[in-house]
Amino acid sequence: MKIGVFDSGIGGMTVLKELIKTFPNENFVYYGDTANVPYGTKSSSQIRNLCQEAAYSLKTKNLDVLVIACNTASAIALDVFKKILFPLPVFGVVEPGVSAVVEQFQKLPFDPQRRILILGTKATIKSQIYSLEIRKAIAFNQISEQSCPLAVPMIEEGWVNSPILLSTLQEYVKTYQHDKIPGIALLACTHYPWAIGAFQKVLPNWNIVDSAKAVAEFLLRQQFSLSQKNDLTVQWFFTDPEAVTPMALNDFQQMGLTIAL
Ligand code: DGL
Repeated sequence: MKIGVFDSGIGGMTVLKELIKTFPNENFVYYGDTANVPYGTKSSSQIRNLCQEAAYSLKTKNLDVLVIACNTASAIALDVFKKILFPLPVFGVVEPGVSAVVEQFQKLPFDPQRRILILGTKATIKSQIYSLEIRKAIAFNQISEQSCPLAVPMIEEGWVNSPILLSTLQEYVKTYQHDKIPGIALLACTHYPWAIGAFQKVLPNWNIVDSAKAVAEFLLRQQFSLSQKNDLTVQWFFTDPEAVTPMALNDFQQMGLTIAL
């Protein structure tokens, strides 16, 4: 099976990594719009235009399924990809992220004070898509959304454990840090799983939900027919190869995968 993974840049590699762990014999095509990242600070119409261009380019890649790993693109432009690539199955990350949060919520003892916190880019948070979808699944009002726009460039810089990232996150989540009942925080941005340790430090005792893992589990449940042979391949497409940061490259080299730019 040829699985396409789209992201605004390198962030979607966190999703790709989880997909490879779950589907170790498949062929992957990773498309990162590194020339236009970040999407999360742009307007909806700009994001939709960029996604339209990417969708036409992905149409030529003979995919069997496409995963929109980018939360911002999933929140703002999933319909654009679906329309241009029809009848290709296209999945965004909102549905798996929502299911993972709801599952976690239902596992914990009910407490009306427990908060669900969505962390994402400005555009994702502005769309309120996560709160709306979670409220459809569970009647619960303690849902907050917080954008952390400075986290993306810091993570791209490789500062995933740095005090600068920690104090930045601290500032973003300070309203929630002193909740009496530890809440559930969804990392609704492809970059954040790289810094999951930092998020856990600023929200100690909270349940941090990594949406990358949720996406892989969600795709597995779709019961596609999978390859029996061990022939994992990844084809890489970056709209600006020079903008691929060393952190992303190192991560994949450690998995034994080379990235030809
Ligand atoms: N890929 C984006 C997301 O998951 C984060 C980076 C960006 O702003 O483009 O929302």
